[in-house]
Formats: sequence, C-alpha cells, structure tokens
Amino acid sequence: MIVITTPTGDIGRQILDRVLDSGEPVRVIARDASRLPEHVRAQAEVVEGSHADADTIAKALQGADSLFWLVPPADFRDAGPAMSYYLDFTRAAAHEAASRGVRMVHVTSLGHGHSYDGSAGLLAAGLATGELIESTGVQYRALALPFFMENILRQAQSIAEQGVLSMANTADRPLLTIATQDVAAVAADLLLDTTWNGQARVPLGSPDNLTPNAMAEIISETLGRPVRYQQVPLADLQDQMVQSGASPSLAQDMADMINAQNNGIYDAEPRDPASATATDFRQWCQNVLKPAVQS
Ligand SMILES: NC(=O)c1ccc[n+]([C@@H]2O[C@H](COP(=O)([O-])OP(=O)(O)OC[C@H]3O[C@@H](n4cnc5c(N)ncnc54)[C@H](OP(=O)(O)O)[C@@H]3O)[C@@H](O)[C@H]2O)c1
Repeated sequence: MIVITTPTGDIGRQILDRVLDSGEPVRVIARDASRLPEHVRAQAEVVEGSHADADTIAKALQGADSLFWLVPPADFRDAGPAMSYYLDFTRAAAHEAASRGVRMVHVTSLGHGHSYDGSAGLLAAGLATGELIESTGVQYRALALPFFMENILRQAQSIAEQGVLSMANTADRPLLTIATQDVAAVAADLLLDTTWNGQARVPLGSPDNLTPNAMAEIISETLGRPVRYQQVPLADLQDQMVQSGASPSLAQDMADMINAQNNGIYDAEPRDPASATATDFRQWCQNVLKPAVQS
C-alpha cells in the first residue's frame, strides 16, 4: 500500500497518476475528497483529513509500505514562521512512519551543508524538516530540490502583457531549477521500488543551470516576442508581498530564501551530473509555459 499526501497538489497529483498506472494499491490523504478527480476516487482509498493531524496519519498508515510526504505551502495571509510550521506539520507523521516501518519519500530543498548567514527562510525550514524525519530512524529518501520551473507560471500574465519576468534573484547568477513532472517521476519510482533502505538525500536538478537573464532569453525565443528579466530589490519584494496581504513572517521567510539562493545555496550540495533530470528549461517553456501564456 502506497500512501500519498497532497493528491490535489501540483507534485502529489502527478505522482498519484504514475502510481495508479502501476496497479499498486494506493491510499490518499485529502482534506476534501470531493476535490479529487473521479478516476482517483474510483481507484484509490481515501482518508479524509489533514496529514498534519496525528489521528489522520495513524489511520492512513495502517498496513502501508511507503508514504509520499509534502508539507503544503503555509497560508498566505496567516503564516507564522516557516520553521515551526514545517516541523509541527511533520512531527507526528515521521514518528508514526518510523514506528510502523513505513518508508518515507519527502520533498525538501537542495542546500544541505550550506553555511548560510542566519536563516534561509523557507529553505531552512525544509532542510530542518528533513533532519527531523531522519532523527526518527525511519527509512527515508529526501528529494533535495531547487527552484521549481512552475513558479514562473505565476508570471504568465506579466510575461504575456508586459514582456517582463520579474524576480528578486540575481540577474546574472545561475539559479538551478527543476520541472515538477521530473520530481514526480523520481518520487513515484522510489515509492514503487521496494529494494532501498536506510536514509539518503537524492539531490536533483535540471540539466541546464541558467541565470534569470538567460531564462528570459529562452522565454523570449520560445514565445517569439521580447521578454526581459527585471531584478526587483529584495526589500521591495518583501514590501509588495505585505501590501498584497502576505503575513510579515511569510514575506521575511521568502526574502531570506531568495537571499540564500543569491548566495549560492543550491550549488553547495554536491549533485551527480549523471543524475540530472530529463526536462531542460527550453523544453519546459515549450511544453508548459507557452500554452499557459497563450491561454
Ligand atoms: N516552489 C519551489 O520552488 C520549491 C522548491 C523546493 C521545494 N518546494 C516545496 O514543495 C512544496 C510545495 O509543493 P507543490 O507545489 O506540489 O504544492 P501545491 O501544488 O501548492 O499543493 C498543496 C497541496 O497541499 C494541500 N493542502 C494545502 N493546505 C493544507 C493543509 N493545511 N493541510 C493539508 N493539506 C493541505 C492542498 O490540497 P487541498 O487544498 O485540496 O486540501 C494541495 O494538495 C512545499 O513543501 C515547498 O517547500 C518548493
């Protein structure tokens, strides 16, 4: 039995489809079962509730072999500090999985071993969550991930209407990325593979490692019209977030995360170039961004 959290989320949904295709028994944990597509309700067991809840997790892990674990993004308006949110969300599940001998596959951040100044915001929270899980002794694979290409979908409108890709990341410093379909492929393989044991990090990233300036150039070539990169000062981004309703904690954690990215946090963790994922940024722009911008 494979248990999948966040079955309506970007990564969880893609993992679920792959695991269902394998024919293995699947159980999903969902806050609202009516949000699941019909084919999922027909093929998977559903445990209703939040995967942060100890009783829900205990119910969902009965007879389970493996668990896909993802901490959902915190509430935009009400988020407190990411560190306590990520750890509190995960503690019960990690102990329950360890005590039942369930293997855990977890979405976390690249950057283990980076001596970032102070906090790396959301990334520090993701890394600390991995350490919490490891401390329980559970059989564990940490998918150590960089910046999701899908983050850029939030800018589809600005790209389409103003020809601008705008972030606070340094314009000419490489920012490693990954397509979520590749995360789902690796996660599904690990969930279905019954031969691994122990604990390990699985650092992943796309075959290219482009600067935001170079990303804008590729977007421009893919769409056939000019798109430029605009680097926003971190303090301005933080102010804009708060003005648009984000909690000050979330804005701070986001700024700290980008600061760590601008200081090379993703490059600090060694990756085997042979394990680069399949999708490069140009392919992703062609297959995912272009249809989104044109819709
Ligand atoms: N973005 C990046 O560049 C990046 C890089 C590395 C790692 N990550 C990590 O990736 C994760 C985000 O993954 P994603 O993009 O697949 O997420 P997503 O698409 O935003 O999906 C969120 C899922 O969580 C569920 N959910 C939301 N709030 C919940 C709650 N309070 N309790 C239980 N379930 C809840 C949602 O389901 P319902 O609303 O239907 O209940 C949905 O299925 C985060 O942990 C982040 O740290 C992100």
